[in-house]
Amino acid sequence: MGGEAEPRPALSAAYVPADDDELLLFELGGKHRAQALSTAAALGVADRLRASGARGEPLESLAAALGCDPDDLQSLLRCLCGMGYLDEPATGRFALTTRGEALCSDRLGAFAAFQGSPSQWDAWSRLRVAMRDGGSHGTTPYQRAAGHGLYEHLAQSPDEAKAYDAAIDAFSRMEAAALVRGAELAGARRLVDVGGGRGALLRELLRQLPDAEGVLFDLSHVIARVDVAELADGGRARCESGDFFAAVPAGGDVYLLKHVLHNWDDERAAQLLRRCREAMSPGGRVLAIDALLWPDNRPDLARMMDLEMRVLCGSRERRKPEVRRLFHQAGLELAELRQLTPMSWLFVGRPVQA
Ligand SMILES: C[S@@+](CC[C@H](N)C(=O)[O-])C[C@H]1O[C@@H](n2cnc3c(N)ncnc32)[C@H](O)[C@@H]1O
Repeated sequence: MGGEAEPRPALSAAYVPADDDELLLFELGGKHRAQALSTAAALGVADRLRASGARGEPLESLAAALGCDPDDLQSLLRCLCGMGYLDEPATGRFALTTRGEALCSDRLGAFAAFQGSPSQWDAWSRLRVAMRDGGSHGTTPYQRAAGHGLYEHLAQSPDEAKAYDAAIDAFSRMEAAALVRGAELAGARRLVDVGGGRGALLRELLRQLPDAEGVLFDLSHVIARVDVAELADGGRARCESGDFFAAVPAGGDVYLLKHVLHNWDDERAAQLLRRCREAMSPGGRVLAIDALLWPDNRPDLARMMDLEMRVLCGSRERRKPEVRRLFHQAGLELAELRQLTPMSWLFVGRPVQA
């Protein structure tokens, strides 16, 4: 029997490396896979191909529509075919697969695009310098790359802020869907989303809870970008701006803190929880959402988020006893715990009874 043996595929998640060298090469290829996916998302490849259905679209017209060099685009698309996100049903025609739907703008497309954007990518390349030179608690890798911190950068860069907002919105939709599947919001009448960004979570929750009203609370430059009429019908939502370490809106029965505590050290995080505890109405609770670190070294996304927080903000994720201690310092007990997504957990805090 002649002919060449088929090469073993080395890009898919099902790939089994022959030895440790091959495994290392595969892991380092994470750079290529992530950037290929992120670039395709930024170009809008998935949205465009979804519209052309199973037959797909010829490379030439796709390249013209996206403003790309056809040869470069073909190289990118073929990488995505190897990863299962696209298919080439006929030579030179590309189509979206079921897996590729996740890259569309109504799924995680904006998140994928932002993850590979220059400011995010550059920050990670400084991790090695920050490790030795004061650690992430000194000058963060993000500050080294951008010249200032993440939130200062967003406040000064409207385009980047728009991309960040869209990325967070995409992820928030997943978390909101998981949150409403549980019982923690039962009977909620007045939600306060503390550090709620542009309100993606609050909007989704108010859609699911027609009898509830909500307050979106954040810094003034963030609130200035919110269209309050879009948050809920019937005037059920309003916005307030201020510093959450000073005070948060009073009288809520649910205080949402989604991906906020992990930005702050223990002292600041406990202070913020205390503000929520002081402001809540009787029977109120805090619903905090963050990653959860397990004491062992399981290869989960929370461990990666921990490194991401060090790179971007000089902060970190927490373990369960650490969250319980924080809550306790604020007069709250950690009453329940539930996983929402591969990267986020719900921590329910209720006032400690005197
Ligand atoms: C990581 S973002 C989380 C946003 C949103 N909760 C989410 O999950 O999409 C942290 C939020 O805290 C807000 N923030 C930071 N410092 C604040 C302060 N002192 N007072 C009020 N909001 C603040 C930021 O503007 C930002 O929107």
